[in-house]
Amino acid sequence: MASVTSLSDSVQQQLASALSATLPEAADADPLLRRSDRADFQANGILALAKKAKANPRELATQVVSRVTTGTVIEDVEVSGPGFLNITVSDRAITENLAARYADEAGRLGAPFATNPGTTVIDYAQPNVAKEMHVGHLRSAVIGDSVVQLLEFTGETVIRRHHIGDWGTQFGMLIQYLDEHPHELDHKRSAEDTATSGEEAMSNLDRLYKAARRLFDSDEEFKTRARRRVVDLQAGDPRTLAMWQKFVDESKIYFFSVFEKLDMEIRDADIVGESGYNDMLAETCRLLEESGVAVRSEGALCVFFDDIKGPDGNPVPLIVQKSDGGYGYAATDLSAIRDRVFNLKANTLLYVVDARQALHFRMVFETARRAGWLNDDVTAFQLAFGTVLGKDGKPFKTRAGETVRLVDLLDEAIDRASAVVREKAQDLSEEEIAERGAQVGIGAVKYADLSTSANRDYKFDLDQMVSLNGDTSVYLQYAYARIRSILRKAGDTRPVAHPELDLADAERALGLHADAFAETVAEAAKDFAPHKLTAYLYQLASLYTTFYDKCPVLRAETPAQIENRLFLCDVTARTLHQGMSLLGIRTPEKL
Ligand code: ARG
Repeated sequence: MASVTSLSDSVQQQLASALSATLPEAADADPLLRRSDRADFQANGILALAKKAKANPRELATQVVSRVTTGTVIEDVEVSGPGFLNITVSDRAITENLAARYADEAGRLGAPFATNPGTTVIDYAQPNVAKEMHVGHLRSAVIGDSVVQLLEFTGETVIRRHHIGDWGTQFGMLIQYLDEHPHELDHKRSAEDTATSGEEAMSNLDRLYKAARRLFDSDEEFKTRARRRVVDLQAGDPRTLAMWQKFVDESKIYFFSVFEKLDMEIRDADIVGESGYNDMLAETCRLLEESGVAVRSEGALCVFFDDIKGPDGNPVPLIVQKSDGGYGYAATDLSAIRDRVFNLKANTLLYVVDARQALHFRMVFETARRAGWLNDDVTAFQLAFGTVLGKDGKPFKTRAGETVRLVDLLDEAIDRASAVVREKAQDLSEEEIAERGAQVGIGAVKYADLSTSANRDYKFDLDQMVSLNGDTSVYLQYAYARIRSILRKAGDTRPVAHPELDLADAERALGLHADAFAETVAEAAKDFAPHKLTAYLYQLASLYTTFYDKCPVLRAETPAQIENRLFLCDVTARTLHQGMSLLGIRTPEKL
């Protein structure tokens, strides 16, 4: 396997063994290596170790230095300040390491697979049937999709679950209305054009929803009929179920059209909505009641928690079954846990869901732990995301105060991005401008979402998102396209690594950063934190820009230097491309 040890890992290992040779009790100590402006790396770990061993830190550092072998990777190491180590690696090591990454046939840039991968079930992109998708659904989809890519890249087995809201009492009203107005969901257009039919599906559903609601609120007899429908639905009456299925199918046409616009692959088989757990609900309740995890309280089946109380000081229970026998959101989620742990054999359950549902998940996870379904080996985690805010810093709404439709927002992003692309376009056809506009616009929206840590709120600001300067996907996409254009211009001159060449400062900085790709991805995957990857890629593009300003590529001094710089360009391009694809963002060849 073509996995490559990063320079920082090599240095780390050498320091650690010099350290433990000097101070045997520091065998597992971390030298605390960081990238540094003074040298290539700085290690600060000796200070604390010296303190613990009651030794003089500078003396200890000097002894460690005497044990480090210089010459291959480490060119120079010296003691600085109170006992830091400043380490410089050789130009040759940088080029050789990058050459090894470049040679990785799997296109992984030498990134290793995790040693003990497990199975993660990730619950993300979970819109609700018969309802419009809004900005909240954007975050779950975008973050979830990137975490899927990151985890799969490390070798984890990932099972996707789209826990759509496809069950509940509101279906009684919808089905009853459809039964009384049977043609409301008919399509006028063909299903060929997914975007058009997606829109038509949603407008049908929306119209029907509003009409049903109006009738439900004004007509007592309809209300009674609707309530009876809920009972029929829960009892599995075939005709009622068939009509329910129509709502689900119609909604899926819409969902798929939105996911397609988002340039995201969502597979039908991974859509297992709330209804998918219906036949587990009774058993879930029985197990919880028999084990004493849940108790009857005023007829409802409840789980209580010492530390969860309402404003009145009374405990707030998790209601697993209502007093009328109905099951709700919690029963479904608890059943889904059983399915994911015992049938899908997951070690990790990940939920990419709005932070406002944090209490729900805290209670559900704790209940599952008490029941023994979750434990130290099988864990659940809510990757909670914050709210999308408007420019005014308040939750994002339309001028009329309504929630913003996700499609409108995406269309606007694509329009803006197309204008940017058109303005800069040199040799692009109209068709290419439209295609790039979509890639840049959707990329901008995804990148803005991914570049703040998920738990924080962020402002949805399209002007900023499609800006060419600053921490945006457009900036990264342009950096990539610029490199590709240089490589095209180079014609027959190919990128070739020349480890014998001395490197300029800007080349070293770029090279060292490119070498850290694999460990950055590993960390982003471990922490479910795509923003660590965006920060890395932004820095990579910035370092590339400096390199490009300082170091002529095609007009470098010698043929070997031209080849080596083309090689640095290509390593950067591949890293950008791979990194962006882990974020779900396209890197067009030309912009
Ligand atoms: N459909 C829900 C919503 O739109 C999100 C579902 C989250 N997943 C879960 N397993 N509860 O808010």
